[in-house]
Amino acid sequence: MKTVILDSRNQNSLNQAAELLLAGKLVAVPTETVYGLAADATNPIAVDSIFRAKGRPANHPLIVHITGVDQLDKWAIHIPNNARKLAETFWPGPLTLLLKKSPKAISAVTGNQDTIAIRAPANPSMQELLKLCGLGLAAPSANPYKSLSPTKVSHVYKALAGKIDAILDGGECVLGIESTILDLTNIIPRILRPGPISVNQIEEILKIEISCPKAHSIRISGNLASHYMPKTPIFLYSTDILIHRLKELPKDVACLVYDEQLTLQNCNQIIHISSIKSEYSRLLYQKLHEIDAQNFREIWVEKPPQCSEWFDVNDRLKRAAQFDD
Ligand code: TXA
Ligand code: MG
Repeated sequence: MKTVILDSRNQNSLNQAAELLLAGKLVAVPTETVYGLAADATNPIAVDSIFRAKGRPANHPLIVHITGVDQLDKWAIHIPNNARKLAETFWPGPLTLLLKKSPKAISAVTGNQDTIAIRAPANPSMQELLKLCGLGLAAPSANPYKSLSPTKVSHVYKALAGKIDAILDGGECVLGIESTILDLTNIIPRILRPGPISVNQIEEILKIEISCPKAHSIRISGNLASHYMPKTPIFLYSTDILIHRLKELPKDVACLVYDEQLTLQNCNQIIHISSIKSEYSRLLYQKLHEIDAQNFREIWVEKPPQCSEWFDVNDRLKRAAQFDD
């Protein structure tokens, strides 16, 4: 299969992407978080082809992407007020809500569970595409199972060319890290995956404390210990330990650092990333993709600050790492 790249700034290309989706084809789409691999959420054959392209086990459920709050009742039932409040505040944006599914939600999308994960993405071309095709789009991140999420078209193309029909090019993802997933099927809302919408932001709107379990048994592939992995093994080191280790940095090890003292060192094994949280998240997967494309034996990552602001980044790094000091 030939994978075509469609420019989202061009109306004909957007129309073509919409037609492909209506015909049950697979199109990788830009969102503000990471690129998604989209198909018509009501078409079981199209949804099945997402799993085949990704190599993902069929019982791992998918997020359904919609234009906004007005579509919520099509996909979910028994929607609590808290869910509506959050959707009205943060949509379109990087917050996925887990709710009780409506009959419209097919079992291939929900992994045979009675819940559905829904979000309205903020990327303008994705919004335009959703309006053009009039569908709910089931879309996991557009990467092979258990590997790094894509934040640029080149990442998607390298991993999935030949396996999908098209990629809608919407430029680089502005947030660079997957959405926050919040379970609203119980009285106390709980975070299933930390992301760009923080616990504090949610608590401020709901005026209650939400639950933020270290581990949970809900079936969510992003919850597997070893997920979000580059091919090169990651080792996490705190700044002071890394300063010592850098004195004898093996030639085949790459280092990802944000600290000013460390960024002063200039050699092509030391890859700099921002110390500003939003910039760090935007660039993290991009830097890991770049390092992965070279032949390093290991990646040593300087451990970011262990505070709530960095919760989502630390979550992803912990899952990706082989070792954490
Ligand atoms: O930012 C994002 O959320 C991106 C963009 C493309 O929207 N999507 C994304 O999808 O990260 P994915 O499939 O890579 O991760 C979504 C997670 C999966 O771990 C999946 O298991 C979980 O959401 N999930 C989806 N539906 C669920 C359900 N009904 N119950 C529990 N977990 C669910
Ligand atoms: Mg994923």
